[in-house]
Amino acid sequence: MSEKKHRVSRRQFLTYTLTGVGGFMAAGMLAPMVRMALDPALEAGGDSEFVSIGLSEADLTEEPQRVDFSVELEDGWYTSEQSRSAWVFLNEGEVMALSPVCTHLGCTVDWNTSPENQDQFFCPCHFGRFERDGTNVPGTPPTRPLDVYDVEVRDGMIYLGQINQR
Ligand code: FES
Repeated sequence: MSEKKHRVSRRQFLTYTLTGVGGFMAAGMLAPMVRMALDPALEAGGDSEFVSIGLSEADLTEEPQRVDFSVELEDGWYTSEQSRSAWVFLNEGEVMALSPVCTHLGCTVDWNTSPENQDQFFCPCHFGRFERDGTNVPGTPPTRPLDVYDVEVRDGMIYLGQINQR
């Protein structure tokens, strides 16, 4: 073949380049849509997935115990790890997992740290209090209960899902 046949004209070069770039951009836009169509559970950024917290139901008592764990969040192509915490315990025989984030202004509540108010969650920021099931104590700053995690027990192990307001 002559060298002339191998040459790419300016028009051909631009056509190839623009087609390539356009195809790449279209794939970038279509891939997340296809993924969500195939798996609606991923639509909320992976937040609706359940993750193991490394505790079994047999490890629990009625005394809330704090568990720290991490969840993987996906946003388009980007995946990140986010730390989460929960107070986990048995409430009337059922596994309950509460968010430790105070519903007043977002400080972190602790269990049983106010000597005058035994068996309650206590927020040191403005002395907010919650009953063991997360109900806010009237007359203290929080006006709604602690948020609650979706809970699943699989083969005796505890998995937590999304956090819900009540
Ligand atoms: S942030 Fe908890 S009482 Fe204000």
